[in-house]
Parts: sequence; C-alpha cells; structure tokens
Amino acid sequence: MDPRAEIAVIGGSGLYALLDNAVEHRVETPYGPPSDAITVAEVAGRRVAFLPRHGRDHRHPPHLIPYRANLWALRSLGVRRVLAPCAVGGLRPELGPGSFVVPDQLIDRTSGRAQTYYDRGAVHVSFADPYCPAGRRTLLDAAAGRGVSAVDGGTVVVVEGPRFSTRAESRWFTAIGGSVVNMTGHPEAVLARELALCYTSIALVTDLDAGVEGGHSVTQEEVFRVFGENTDRLRDILLDAVAALPAERECTCASALDGIKLPFPLP
Ligand code: ADE
Repeated sequence: MDPRAEIAVIGGSGLYALLDNAVEHRVETPYGPPSDAITVAEVAGRRVAFLPRHGRDHRHPPHLIPYRANLWALRSLGVRRVLAPCAVGGLRPELGPGSFVVPDQLIDRTSGRAQTYYDRGAVHVSFADPYCPAGRRTLLDAAAGRGVSAVDGGTVVVVEGPRFSTRAESRWFTAIGGSVVNMTGHPEAVLARELALCYTSIALVTDLDAGVEGGHSVTQEEVFRVFGENTDRLRDILLDAVAALPAERECTCASALDGIKLPFPLP
C-alpha cells in the first residue's frame, strides 16, 4: 500500500493507535529510526499517518524521544501538516484535569536535546508563532463540534523531565506566563518549523501542577489515568480535524524556509 500521507498525528501518552485499517511502514532516516512504525490510512478522503511519540509500548521517555527522526520520517512520507496531542499539567487553577487547550505559545525549559537539523550553514527560522494558525482554528472548531470548549491560546512551558517540577519551579512557570506544562512540546514544534511543516498541538490537562492552588505532587498514575479517561473524546476531535484541515497551505509555516539556502535537500 502507498505509504504517502499529507497529514500526521503524533500521539502522546495514552494515545498509541488512532487509525482503522491502517498499513504499517518502517521508515529509516539520517537520524535513525522514528519512535515506532508509522501507520497510514485514509480518513475522510485524506491520507493520514499516525506515529506514537513514545512508541506504542511507551519505551521512549520524553527526554530521549527521537524527535528529529520523527519529523524527518513524516516529511519523507509527504506529510505537511502535523497535529500533536499531548498531556499537560495545568499551571492555573481554572485549567483543571479534563480541560483542553489549543496553545499559541511555548517556553522552552529543556536542556541537552538535539533541537535543530541545521548544525551547519546559516538557517535561522522564524519561531515567534510556533503553532500553525490554520491548524489551531481547525482543532478549536473540531473540539466545539464535539461539545468541548477548548481554551483558545495559552503558553506551554516545556520542561526537560522525566521528573515533574518542584512547587517553586511550578509557581515560577505560572509567574512567567505559563498556562500549562509538559515534557514533549519542544523540540517537536521547532523541528516541524525547520522542515516547513504546519504544527498544531492540542493539550489535554491531566493534573494541576505542584505549585498551583489545589495542586499536589503530580504522579505518573494520575497523568495516565486522566489521559485514558479522555482518549475517546480526543480521538473524535482529531479525526474531525483531519477531515476539516484546509487542503491548501496559506500560512507562513509553509514558507518558513523560503529564501534560505539549505545545506542539504529536505526529504
Ligand atoms: N505532563 C502531564 N502533566 C505534567 C506535569 N504536571 N508536568 C510536566 N509534564 C506533564
């Protein structure tokens, strides 16, 4: 079966499969293999690829996910739009477990992750707006269509992990403008931009982070349980969004590399 796809979903903790009647493809990249086999299927007439970010058995912890291989592999299949659901902790009391957020900003607090394809040459992509505006609109509408009022905008603070944050760190993330916190939003978003892909995240709040009023010391059990309780809703929203994404790309993500001399051709 043809492995080509135009849209990809990168599934987060608890979302390890998405597509019915999918065909599996093992893809190699200059950065090694991606997190797992990529499954491809047709949804509402669109070719869609699914890749579980942590692997289907959750073998890759957030700081060791092969982010570069993942985005490269998806682009090599023809993907130009990426939808990226993820689990997050709420940094504000009103963003409690079960809330959905479609973020518009991120703050990188990771360290030591490979976060660029361009270790040679002069390639500096714009990243003022890390998420695709068309993808955001589509995901917000898809959520509303399923009776979910996802929060329109918010800042994801991405921590290195794999530990959760201290109360002091958590309070500081809120003070600097964070809405939610997670461990995988970076470098995924910037690597997508470096390949001129549209990248949009939908964040499911699984817990209130440690420094928030009403929050407590976050546990892995809680994160997985709340994500599991919401996977059906999330799956419906994602599949509706896939069907509704505009066919043409008119956003600046598509032209992110225009006028830049690349040191190697993109797949
Ligand atoms: N993912 C889900 N909840 C989180 C939290 N509180 N901190 C970091 N990553 C998370």
